[in-house]
Order: sequence, then structure tokens, then C-alpha cells
Amino acid sequence: MTSFSIGPASAPLRGTVTVPGDKSITHRALILGALADGSTRVTGYCQGEDCLNTLRAIRQLGVEVREIPDGLEITGKGLWGLVEPVNVLDCGNSGTGLRLLAGVLAGQGFFSVLTGDASLRSRPMARIVRPLKLMGAQISGRKGGDLAPLGIQGQELTSLVYESPVASAQIKSCVLLAGLFATGTTVVTEPQKSRDHTERLFAYLGIPFRDNGCRVEVQGRQSFKGKPIDIPGDISAAAFFLVAATIVPDSEVFIPNIGLNPERTGILDLLLKMGADISVLNPRTQSGEPVGDLRVRSSGLHGISIGAEMVPKTIDEFPILCVAAALAEGETRINGAKELRVKETDRIHAMATELQRLNVSVEEEDDGLVIQGNAALKGAVCRSYGDHRVAMSLAVAGLAADSVVSVDEVDCIETSFPGFHGKLLDLLTN
Ligand code: S3P
Repeated sequence: MTSFSIGPASAPLRGTVTVPGDKSITHRALILGALADGSTRVTGYCQGEDCLNTLRAIRQLGVEVREIPDGLEITGKGLWGLVEPVNVLDCGNSGTGLRLLAGVLAGQGFFSVLTGDASLRSRPMARIVRPLKLMGAQISGRKGGDLAPLGIQGQELTSLVYESPVASAQIKSCVLLAGLFATGTTVVTEPQKSRDHTERLFAYLGIPFRDNGCRVEVQGRQSFKGKPIDIPGDISAAAFFLVAATIVPDSEVFIPNIGLNPERTGILDLLLKMGADISVLNPRTQSGEPVGDLRVRSSGLHGISIGAEMVPKTIDEFPILCVAAALAEGETRINGAKELRVKETDRIHAMATELQRLNVSVEEEDDGLVIQGNAALKGAVCRSYGDHRVAMSLAVAGLAADSVVSVDEVDCIETSFPGFHGKLLDLLTN
């Protein structure tokens, strides 16, 4: 496993940086493109391993996907045209890939097996298996179906009104995708609104559905036509540069073409509240999603209190937010974020442990963290726990440390952001 080292920034970060296409939208565009009638051209897609695994999975399901300049052309099989894969479908590190594909496979007339790497095989799957079984699906897996590999014997599904106990776009999208194959109207409610990329693509592709915020309904068995999907840059990837440029004095970085879905922009709201200097320029809409360019200049930060209401729209950005908090003035409290414990790793424990290694005073709580700011970050040898977002967050922390921070197992960054390290170094030498 490779590691890398990041030294204290010797210069400000300057220039323009582009980030990979939105990972969440890419999974959905690939899956819906596979189920559409006719061709779907997907441009700007994320070429991280997570999405490449979903791409391989749809090819294994008999879908033809051709590379075109800037993207992919998917020849959809229609709702009922997928074929039984002759081998297991390996989603690698991706919870989104596995959970969304499970929704599709539950309604097929064939058998399939979904699996992933050691991290994914330890993440909870009962949260999707339960509603899918209520729709009539036949699924088995380790620990009574809570752990992958999951074996799915596709069935005729019936619609469901499902009250999800967790605000999770993966659960919601899994059930909505299964709902495409079910008789009648499938309804999902959630305690807080999670990201709505599936719903926005449904609307964009003309799939009949209704969205009342925390209650979404989709009408089953309605075929739809493919359409070009242009995917914006991933705000979750941009977040690392937003914090890096904020904490390194005299920096100014431009990040064009970033998805600004309101259920994803918690990181902007929170950094602005902490005192960051970030502007959104040129707002526009692209394939049904709000998009804009971001400009960030360095600035001082102060600690804040972050409650449960901010968690769904900031969920993937807590690791990097913890780094910002360590360098802010005063204390930052994060509560209501227990879901962080079931991500690619337990991110509450990972960030508490690694920040302590960097000389930050942090308390780990059951559902969050309390971070004392004004930290004098010290160089250290840190663990990524094989989690891409932990690895990138620790790299950014290295810019503000007194000596080199080295991070282990950084190959995991390939899951979402190939080329991250080089892009960070380029900004330092501009
Ligand atoms: C995602 C939903 C979130 C997020 C993940 C991507 C999605 O997971 O953390 O990185 O694309 O639907 P949960 O649904 O588990 O909150």
C-alpha cells in the first residue's frame, strides 16, 4: 500500500483546479442510462474506481457502453432488458453502487450476487434489504442479510410505502429504483431530506414521480427514453480545496463547474458561517442540477456548533470540516452525526484519532466530535483507514502542520479522486 507525505505549505495555493464529476450523479446516470430506452450520453462523469465498478456492473448485466470524447454512450436495455450476470458484481468500496444496484436487481427475472471490498462487506445492508423484502424481493446475505455478499433472486415486486428511519439517499434511491419495477406507486418518506439526485434525474428523464420534500413517490413500470446527461464537478471533491485554500495564507483558488444541489451544500453554508471567503459565481442549471463556479480566498475561521439538521447535506464533508475546525478559533461541536460511524470507515473515530496524532485536542462522542481550535498542528505519520476522504483530509492538514504529515494507504483516493495529490501540489507551485 502506498503512502504519501505532504509538507507545510511553502507558498499560497493559487490558480484553477478542476475536480472529478459528481460521484453520486455518475452512479445514477449509469444505472438509469442502462434502464432507459435508446441512447444516453453521459459527459463529465466521475472516473473514480467506485463509479468504474458500477460501469463494469451494468456491462455485466448486458448493457453496451461505448467511450466517446468526454464521456460514455450507454445503449439502454429498457426496463426489462437486463440479463443475468455470469459472475458476481463487485462494487469495490462503493456503498452507493451496491445499494442502488440492489434496488434494480431485486426486480429482475434472474439471480445475481453483489459484493465489495472488506470495508463494504462490513457495512450495514439490512437498511436496504428490509424494504426490498417488504416489496417481495428474495435476498440473502451474511448475518441474516445484513452483510454483503448479497444473493438476490429477482422477483415480481409490489409497491411499498416505506418510512425510512434514516435520512439516507442510498436507502431512498434503492427503494425508488426497485419501485420502477413494482406494480403501483412506491412511496419513501425520510426524517430529513437527503440528496435528491435520483429524483432530479427522474424528472429530467420524464419518469413519473412526485417529490414533496421528505416524501417521494414513483410510479412503477413506466418506460423512459435516454437523454444526454452532463455531470457537474463533485462538491465533495471541491471541499478539500475549499478548506486547503482557506487555511493557507494568501491563497486564491477558482474551482469551475461544481454541482450545487441544495442537499449537498452544507459544506459551503458551514464554512461561510465559520468565516470563510467563498463566492459562488455564474449559477446555472445543467441536466436538472444547479451548478456554479466557486472562488475561495484564504481567511481566518472561528468554531461553530453543528447540529443534526445540517448532517444530511454535509455528510461526506465532516472529515475535511474537522481539519478546518482544528484551525479555527475556538471550539467546534458536531452532533447528530452517528451515520459517520458506518461510512467507508468509522469517520468519527478515525478523525478523532488522527487529529489527536496531529496535536489537536478532540473529544470523540457517540454521535459526533468536539474539536478545540487554534491547534498548532504537528507533523506525524497518520492512518487513512483505507478511507479516501480521511486520506485527503489528512493531506490538507499537512499543509498547515509544522513538519511533514505522511498518510498511509492512499490508494483509496482512487475511489473518488484520481489525481488528487498532483492537483494539490500544482496549486502550490502556480
Ligand atoms: C450517497 C449518499 C450518502 C453519502 C454517500 C453517497 C448517494 O450516503 O454519504 O457518499 O450517492 O446516495 P447515505 O445514503 O448512507 O447517507
